[in-house]
Amino acid sequence: MDSIRIRGGKPLYGKIEISGAKNAALPLMVACLLTDETVTLRNLPHVADITTLINLLCQHGVKAHMNGHDGGSSAGRSICLTAEEITNTEAPYDIVRKMRAGALVLGPLLARVGKAKVSLPGGCAIGTRPMNLHVDGLEAMGAKIDIEAGYMVAEAPNGLKGAEIRFDTVSVGATEDLLMAACLADGVTVLENAAREPEITDLVLLLQAMGADIEGIGTDRLVVTGKPKLHGAEYSVMPDRIETGTYAMAAAITGGKVELTNTRADLIEAVIEVMEEAGITVERTENGMIVSRDPNSPILGVDVQTQPYPGYPTDMQAQLMALMTVSSGASMITETIFENRFMHVPELSRLGANINVHGRSAMVRGAKELVGAPVMATDLRASVSLVLAGLAASGETVINRVYHLDRGYERLEEKLAACGADISRAQGD
Ligand code: EPZ
Repeated sequence: MDSIRIRGGKPLYGKIEISGAKNAALPLMVACLLTDETVTLRNLPHVADITTLINLLCQHGVKAHMNGHDGGSSAGRSICLTAEEITNTEAPYDIVRKMRAGALVLGPLLARVGKAKVSLPGGCAIGTRPMNLHVDGLEAMGAKIDIEAGYMVAEAPNGLKGAEIRFDTVSVGATEDLLMAACLADGVTVLENAAREPEITDLVLLLQAMGADIEGIGTDRLVVTGKPKLHGAEYSVMPDRIETGTYAMAAAITGGKVELTNTRADLIEAVIEVMEEAGITVERTENGMIVSRDPNSPILGVDVQTQPYPGYPTDMQAQLMALMTVSSGASMITETIFENRFMHVPELSRLGANINVHGRSAMVRGAKELVGAPVMATDLRASVSLVLAGLAASGETVINRVYHLDRGYERLEEKLAACGADISRAQGD
């Protein structure tokens, strides 16, 4: 397995171009199942999860064509996806357990062909992550779903019907799944307490471009009037707000100055607010922002709770914790979305961080210095928090299990090295 080696302590200076958002691209790709015409997506990030999803979609009968780069040096590729015929309605355990977003095919397959057999994703490193909201919502739309041998076996022989659905928990995935299903259902579907994440807005915009009738974009009440058919469309994936926030933290933790381009500050207002409170300077630009901190000015402690959008994102919790390990004060970081998303704590502690976890809250007391060490991570954002800590630590940090990072960060070492980081990848067995 590959590892990443960092010799920390160098402030980052330069420019980083942000890639297309993985968490937007995945549902946008799944939406191709709703039509027999071609859906073309631009600004697709080059990350492992995208490849995994292409493999899954091809198994369902989708024809996929990558079109190479469609812009500057690191602009994402574009892909044409055509689901002219659905030849197989099974999403196997082997793929879905590795990438939970694979389970999003449930609603679209049911809506398009009236049946689907989709593996339950199972737990993952950050929590139990059940599928009940997806299942309950589709059942309210007339599907019959049984759990058999670890699979959701679903049928809607007479098609799905519009329904009024109120989520008792805000769920990004369930909102996306039911939104896509509702586009081809008979009648009106109302989704109440829907997630408002920008990735949902991106999906609504693509579905509208495909001919869907959806009202309430950007709000927690989406009203979908089903259509018998959707058509093909072309769409450009939004910038990755979590990648943006992660590199903003990299500039902050190293006491450097980095311009983030090909992105939008409005996607991470909650993160910017917290960074400004911590004493970091964020200057908004036309196509992104410039993030800086004078290495002699302290990072101030902040208290933060993760929340659904527009609150502080859970996917930026581990990175903030890394930043707070070198603050000049104390911070309380509370995780409210996932029950087990502190797996980075013991690893950050190996670098000298002072963190105590009490239930869902972590008390971080700023350490004078982090010192490099070998570390290992359990999920994507935990891994990148170790990269951030490694950039600030003296000496050498080696991060193992890099495949987590490869799921969601495109050319991470290259982007950081271009700003002066001493970072390299060692190929493993
Ligand atoms: C999406 O996961 C993201 N993944 C996650 O990003 C992100 O952390 C999460 O949303 C929250 O923002 C993708 O977009 C591919 P949820 P998702 O359904 O949709 C509970 C990353 O690092 N829940 O919004 O799976 C659930 O247990 C990843 O890029 C139910 O109870 O998350 C959690 O507590 C990790 N029943 C809460 O809702 C359900 O049926 C939010 O989960 C579904 C969810």
